[in-house]
Amino acid sequence: MAEEEITLKVQRFDPAADKLPYWQAFKVEIKPGMTVLDALFEVLNHQDGSLSFRFCCRAGVCGSCAMVIAGKVRLACETQVSQFQESGEVMLSPLPHQKVIKDLAVDYTLFFDRLKAVRPYMVGREPYPEREYIQLPKERQPINEPIDCILCGSCTASCTMAWTSTDYLGPAALLKSYRFLVDTRDSIPDERLDIIESERGVWRCHTQFNCVEVCPKKLNPTEAIQRQKLKLFKRKLLGRGRAKPTARKGK
Ligand code: FES
Repeated sequence: MAEEEITLKVQRFDPAADKLPYWQAFKVEIKPGMTVLDALFEVLNHQDGSLSFRFCCRAGVCGSCAMVIAGKVRLACETQVSQFQESGEVMLSPLPHQKVIKDLAVDYTLFFDRLKAVRPYMVGREPYPEREYIQLPKERQPINEPIDCILCGSCTASCTMAWTSTDYLGPAALLKSYRFLVDTRDSIPDERLDIIESERGVWRCHTQFNCVEVCPKKLNPTEAIQRQKLKLFKRKLLGRGRAKPTARKGK
C-alpha cells in the first residue's frame, strides 16, 4: 500500500437489509490535515454514496460525529487520520450499545429522553428582572466547565451502568443537572435534587470514570455526580428531602 493511503475499516449495518453488522474496507488517500470525518466524506463522495454517518459543524462544536475510532470514542471531525498512518488502517464503528439507525449513525432518542428528565433549562427566580439576571464572576465559576458540554453522547454511550439500564440518567444528563443545580439564577434546587436522588439518579454511578476518559471537551461528569451526592448528603443531614423514593420505571 502506498504510504499516503489509509484503509478505513467501517462497521456497516442497515437494519432494513442486514441481519448482522459487517466490516467494509475503503482505501483513502491521506491529505494534509485530513480528519476521519474528511476521510468518510471521501468515501461517501467517491466510493460509496450509501455510507451513513452524522456530522454538522465539522469543528468539534455540535457533537454529532462521535463514534468509536481505533477502539476509542472520539469526534471524527477532531481526529487526524495521520496518527493512524503507521498502522495503515483505522477501524470505525458506531457509539457502543446504541441503537444503530444505519452504519455509523445511532439513534439519540433515549439520550435526549434522559436529558429531558433532568429539566435541562433554567427556571428563573421571581420577581423576574426587567433585563438579565445579574451573576457575579465567582457565582458563574462553578458552571464554567459544565456549560461546555456539546451533548455528543460519548460519555453516556461509554458508561456501563447506562448500558445495563435504560432507566439510569447517565453522565451527560447528570452533568447537565449539576450545571443547573449550581447556577445561582435557578430557583428549583430541591426539585432537581429530588430527580437525582431517585433510582434513576446519582446513586447508580459506580465511579468508573469511563465518561471522563472519553469526553472530547475534557469535562468531568464523574466529579459532578459526586458533588451532587454530597449535596444530597447535606440535604439529608438538614432533615430535608423526599419522603419516599421514586418508583423505578422501565428496566
Ligand atoms: Fe460537529 Fe464533529 S461535526 S462535533
